[in-house]
Amino acid sequence: MKLDVLLGLQWGDEGKGKIVDVLTPRYEVIARFQGGPNAGHSLEFSGIKHVLHTIPSGIFHTQTANVVGNGVVIDPVVFKKETDALHNMGVDIQKNLFISKKAHLILPTHRFLDAASEAAKGQAKIGSTLKGIGPAYMDKTGRNGLRVGDISLPDFKERYNFLVEKHREILSHYEGFTYELEEAEQAFFQGIENLRSFEHIDSEYYVNQALLEGKAVLAEGAQGSLLDIDFGSYPFVTSSNTVSAGACTGLGVAPGKIGQVYGIFKAYCTRVGSGPFPTELFDETGERIRAVGREFGATTGRPRRCGWLDLPALKYSVMINGVTGLIMTKADVLSGFGDIQVCTAYRVNGVETEALPYNTEANYIEPVYTSMPGWSEDLTGVRSYDQIPENLKRYISFLEKALGVPVKILSVGPDREQTIEISR
Ligand code: GDP
Ligand code: IMO
Ligand code: MG
Repeated sequence: MKLDVLLGLQWGDEGKGKIVDVLTPRYEVIARFQGGPNAGHSLEFSGIKHVLHTIPSGIFHTQTANVVGNGVVIDPVVFKKETDALHNMGVDIQKNLFISKKAHLILPTHRFLDAASEAAKGQAKIGSTLKGIGPAYMDKTGRNGLRVGDISLPDFKERYNFLVEKHREILSHYEGFTYELEEAEQAFFQGIENLRSFEHIDSEYYVNQALLEGKAVLAEGAQGSLLDIDFGSYPFVTSSNTVSAGACTGLGVAPGKIGQVYGIFKAYCTRVGSGPFPTELFDETGERIRAVGREFGATTGRPRRCGWLDLPALKYSVMINGVTGLIMTKADVLSGFGDIQVCTAYRVNGVETEALPYNTEANYIEPVYTSMPGWSEDLTGVRSYDQIPENLKRYISFLEKALGVPVKILSVGPDREQTIEISR
């Protein structure tokens, strides 16, 4: 079998958690390959909403194995909160949650470093979730990091202290930045004990063996392609490769073993944090999308910036990821909006282009819009493609033609059930 990948094509929060949960019954293994607790993946069923940060979104299906791969960074404190919440709900995760020994750990001082770095940047801040992601990946590439496998070593505490000393030295250079380590450290070591109670695996062997045995495996992306460290709007990005290539390095799966690549996008665009957003709306329409779409961060609660769909950006994401199938979410939010705008090109120095320029700052490029007739029907109760409004069908066909990839799933609400498979 080949490894299927599901990932976000925009700036995150496309609805990955919901769709992974919906697709899980078709897979025997769900594996996260990058990112960490900066992610907030929501899924909803039986009237209850769950938000996952580190744990794969297949966890509510007890027959499916959930793997946290080597490319992920784990904060034991956040991880404990997640596992406690699941235990309290009566979900038995001890037998179907596996953690890569090679996944790196986020220390409390990584979080402090994130906060200090952002504060020092002032207006130029990235708008990080402040979960310590950047500093943890810096220690990984700097070859100073601690990994899950290290917690079983007899000198783990010494290794921890050594790294913390290094961080304290760096923190001392941020004038005026204060932090309380003691309490955070206690929570960290409680988190480590909790982490110990899960099975630590060589996830590259685990995943490849599963594929060899003919098991269906789905890699679950976090963040979105436009937040990728290489291809996103640098420096306003996250610190990992969020694109499909990240599934190879984050799980140890060879490129030739990648199967379907599902690219998920909202019927419009949102972004949290700083950075360019060419189609951002600063008017009532933007406010309305935020209100109707409940566009507030699942991890930080911050209001998400909202705007129209950006086709040049989507095309770029489809290209970089090798997307084979599209999934569109939140079309229900646009019901009753009247005409819908789609950005089909950018005007750069008076010249139209469909390519993503090096600089996507708003004062440098101007979006060129095509207007499409909208739909007014409530979609949240619709369960088959035949029943969706004609104008939504036209919107979908328009996007498929522009992107050269079919839309396979349409999501019309946050619940598992509010999902339409499109087989034409
Ligand atoms: P993720 O990070 O990609 O998993 O997405 P988030 O969970 O951060 O954000 C998506 C939000 O939209 C969550 O609150 C979901 O419950 C919700 N959602 C997902 N799909 C749909 C949809 O089709 N319609 C509506 N109205 N909400 C959706
Ligand atoms: P999911 O998986 C949306 C954004 C932050 C910030 C930038 C860097 O839920 O889609 P970081 O904490 O990584 O240093 O932040 O990336 N960001 C996300 N935005 N969804 C996410 O994850 C995000 N994870 C990080 O807002 O702009
Ligand atoms: Mg999210």
